Amino acid sequence: MHYIAMQQERLLKVLVIGDLGVGKTSIIKRYVHHIFSQHYRATIGVDFALKVLNWDQQTVVRLQLWDIAGQERYGNMTRVYYREAVGALVVFDMTRFSTFQAVLKWKGDLDSKVALSNGRPVPAVLLANKCDQQHYGLCSKLPKLDTFSREHGFVGWYETSARDDTNIDAAIMCLVENIMASS
Ligand code: GTP
Ligand code: MG
Repeated sequence: MHYIAMQQERLLKVLVIGDLGVGKTSIIKRYVHHIFSQHYRATIGVDFALKVLNWDQQTVVRLQLWDIAGQERYGNMTRVYYREAVGALVVFDMTRFSTFQAVLKWKGDLDSKVALSNGRPVPAVLLANKCDQQHYGLCSKLPKLDTFSREHGFVGWYETSARDDTNIDAAIMCLVENIMASS
């Protein structure tokens, strides 16, 4: 008897949001292309990247990462960009407290503009990026992120560094696992 392996493909649209210069593009470049650059070039509008994951024996996940420019917070385009997203990484810069204060604005923007088909909010993971710079940082001002992330509906949080490749894979895996379980 012959068995034909039935492979299914899932296309997941994931948003990467957060203030200007927090490291969204760097996180995506690290994850997809395994590179890092100190050079800052602000994203204009939106960029895209694709990562293909052999999720399990039956499932190939095509992860479509939407790299939304931090400056879009002040624009009206996010409604268009967020459409049909199934998950989000919300990023702040551990060395700049104002970017942490903006996290809830981004989360609120997200939840007001997109939801799963069952009406529930799309899974979101909180990333405290540039953790390689902690000694310059404002970490002492940060409330305990465990409580904060739970209270504000994040499915998890990670200290990350795109520079040193710390927890980038773990954070994205956490998000994809939640998406696969919820949709
Ligand atoms: P916008 O596109 O303007 O919204 O910014 P962004 O969030 O995409 O930030 P980007 O990835 O362009 O990074 C901004 C700056 O921070 C760059 O100079 C990066 O090299 C630097 N950077 C990003 N991630 C890290 C990190 O983990 N550690 C350190 N030390 N620097 C980082
Ligand atoms: Mg960018």
